[in-house]
Amino acid sequence: MAVTYLLEDPVKNATVAYYSLLADKISFNPDEKGAWNKINRQIPNNKRRRSYPAVKIGRLAVNEQYAGQGIGTAILDNIKYTFTEVKRLGCRFLTVDALRSAVPFYQKCGFIFFSSLDKDDDTRLMFFDLKSFSNM
Ligand SMILES: CC(C)(COP(=O)(O)OP(=O)(O)OC[C@H]1O[C@@H](n2cnc3c(N)ncnc32)[C@H](O)[C@@H]1OP(=O)(O)O)[C@@H](O)C(=O)NCCC(=O)NCCS
Repeated sequence: MAVTYLLEDPVKNATVAYYSLLADKISFNPDEKGAWNKINRQIPNNKRRRSYPAVKIGRLAVNEQYAGQGIGTAILDNIKYTFTEVKRLGCRFLTVDALRSAVPFYQKCGFIFFSSLDKDDDTRLMFFDLKSFSNM
């Protein structure tokens, strides 16, 4: 189940952006052992699991009239802040099924590919380790 957020411009009475958040997890997949080992190396031995809690970002979109002004980045920073500093929920990763055209945007915002198995798909699973944000 997702919760959708709208960012409004009250002066122009316009929707600037919207995005959804939903509970997710990153899970061990025997076909992606390399990717899994890379993730696990960031986790202390006694805290390693077969899956880790995550929050998925769904349907992030910025109104074309407001694009290229840092709003998408600010939204992701706000989500990163909410799930690290505000600590309303224990989760380690943000995930996104990134449209191919949006992959460079997410890369600029610190997201990385989970694996190469989806490299030819229309969307790529990408994730952001919130630990790196809390260390900033
Ligand atoms: C992708 C999207 C959310 C980016 O929002 P935005 O507010 O325009 O992004 P920002 O202004 O914060 O851009 C941050 C950086 O990413 C770059 N960037 C943004 N969108 C990009 C894209 N599609 N391709 C390549 N680079 C992109 C910007 O040039 C900027 O780079 P800079 O820091 O070197 O100047 C927005 O373009 C959008 O809504 N696209 C259509 C819907 C979509 O694809 N959503 C993603 C669903 S997974």
